[in-house]
Amino acid sequence: MKLKIISSSPQETQTIGKLFVQDIVQKTSSSKTAVVVSLEGDLGSGKTEFLKGVAKGLGIKERITSPTFVIMRQFPLSGKKFRFLWHIDCYRVSASDLSNLFWEEICHNPHNLVFIEWGNKVHNLLPSSYWKVKLKVLGEKERLLTIEI
Ligand SMILES: Nc1ncnc2c1ncn2[C@@H]1O[C@H](COP(=O)(O)OP(=O)(O)O)[C@@H](O)[C@H]1O
Ligand SMILES: [Mg+2]
Repeated sequence: MKLKIISSSPQETQTIGKLFVQDIVQKTSSSKTAVVVSLEGDLGSGKTEFLKGVAKGLGIKERITSPTFVIMRQFPLSGKKFRFLWHIDCYRVSASDLSNLFWEEICHNPHNLVFIEWGNKVHNLLPSSYWKVKLKVLGEKERLLTIEI
């Protein structure tokens, strides 16, 4: 399934992220592994903006920043299904770096909800089933978001 949405502002991209994650939380029943979302698109396409909306949708108060210098951040969640949101940025990370960062453990824990910027760089390490959110710059404020599983 492929869903295409045009966003006309950073706020709209955040709203799409918020609705997306709330839908995932609602729909996920007992999964055996972590739920993984790969965010794919050029620098400045809005991956981190999308994550800001995701954090809002999960009630996270901390500020979401571009984790270019911090490779991964973990946010505790109050919900029952998911206990942690992970925000990972693979811009400067290779697949072998990631596999050294407890990636296997993170992926195997069904209480983890994992969003990974530049997931396409490490697609070999992603689970067999994952969400893909592609962002494409169409104009100064226009972005095409394609969501698929
Ligand atoms: N529709 C839009 N959606 C997301 N970001 C947008 C949009 N229009 C303009 N922007 C701007 O584009 C930039 C996106 O940055 P960021 O989310 O950090 O991108 P990435 O994480 O993909 O490198 C921000 O400066 C944001 O204000
Ligand atoms: Mg980013």
